[in-house]
Amino acid sequence: MVDNAFWNTLSMASLLMDRFPAISDLERRAQRRIPSFAWTYLESGTGSDVARDENIAALERVKFRPQFLKGILEPRVETELFGIRYAAPIGIAPVGLTGLIWPGADEALAKTAAEVRIPYVLSTVATAAPETAGPLADGMGWFQLYPPRDRDIRDSLLQRAKDSGFTALVVTADVPAPSRRERQRKAQLRVPPVITPRLIASAATCPAWVQALRVHGAPSFKTLEAYAETSTMSSLAGFVGANLGGSLSWDYLSELRELWSGPLIVKGILDPEDAQECVDRGADSVWVSNHGGRQLDGAVGAIDALEPIVAQLNTAVPIIFDSGIRDGIDIARALALGADFCFAGRAFMFGLGALGGGGPAHAFEILREGLTNVLHQVGLDDPTELPNRLASRS
Ligand SMILES: Cc1cc2nc3c(=O)[nH]c(=O)nc-3n(C[C@H](O)[C@H](O)[C@H](O)COP(=O)(O)O)c2cc1C
Repeated sequence: MVDNAFWNTLSMASLLMDRFPAISDLERRAQRRIPSFAWTYLESGTGSDVARDENIAALERVKFRPQFLKGILEPRVETELFGIRYAAPIGIAPVGLTGLIWPGADEALAKTAAEVRIPYVLSTVATAAPETAGPLADGMGWFQLYPPRDRDIRDSLLQRAKDSGFTALVVTADVPAPSRRERQRKAQLRVPPVITPRLIASAATCPAWVQALRVHGAPSFKTLEAYAETSTMSSLAGFVGANLGGSLSWDYLSELRELWSGPLIVKGILDPEDAQECVDRGADSVWVSNHGGRQLDGAVGAIDALEPIVAQLNTAVPIIFDSGIRDGIDIARALALGADFCFAGRAFMFGLGALGGGGPAHAFEILREGLTNVLHQVGLDDPTELPNRLASRS
């Protein structure tokens, strides 16, 4: 006999889907529950948000040409990547200062990844250490590196990631310098946050966020505390500014290849020549992304950068895509244009803000169900055949 807990879980899931059938529903609720300074940090791009919005607009221009009369279809979205089977070709992209957006975020994201079996990438500047997040992710964790200038710190980070069960290393290439993030400045977002009357007033309107803060404490760059020899956020922020970023070169990438024996992925690539050089230097995958439009407001929409890179690499390595994924159909669009796997940043954070710890799993379910439905609608069982259903873009 099936027990009550099963039916309760099932009806809970279907109630959630009725109330929040789209990522945009989670986004709206998250905006009400996250203090405005943290919300601006999450949703803004840079400059006038042109690149952020273009990511979404360019995805919407990708259309399908369905075929029908296919009888009973049973779309299968499980995907293998680097020898691991994942529930769908979607993962949780690295997000820094996570605990500011939702206190306890990294722990919740890592647990979600383990529960639904998708990859979760822990950022160097996340607010949980690899030793905490790795075991929670239970083999689903990847580690993202902002390349430290100090080689000893770099080597130590790689060792800690490996020892904590992270299977893949993601090196972020697209932050040669901090971007201007004008809206974050105007929202008075500082690291650490400076407690002003405006900040207190903003937090006071978000009781669930304040409660989560009480439980998990103020956010800190936990991974870096060991090197900065301090746990005060102002010293840590200074440490991040002085030690991370601006150091990545082709030779540095080759050194990383020597040091890391597992899958090595370069994130933030938009140019085919760069993509080729990554592969020539031994990268196992190229991650096409414009950082969610947060670095260069004049950057090409990420999906428009994908096709030339796919053509250049010609199946030499799997290609990962992110920037602008807000629905299962966006995953289908990226796969149709030659990506092998996708990631989303904001979509999972919207889930967390809207629903707390259970929110990322619901965001995943929206994306998975959306992708499965697109496969039905275009007449396919197998997502790798999506390129055959691509129509023109206009
Ligand atoms: C609030 C926020 C923080 C981010 N922090 C990082 C980071 O620490 N490291 C990194 O490689 N990318 C970071 N990214 C970029 C994401 O990994 C991802 O490329 C981007 O969110 C994809 O766009 P999407 O939000 O439209 O899905 C961040 C993105 C956001 C929204």
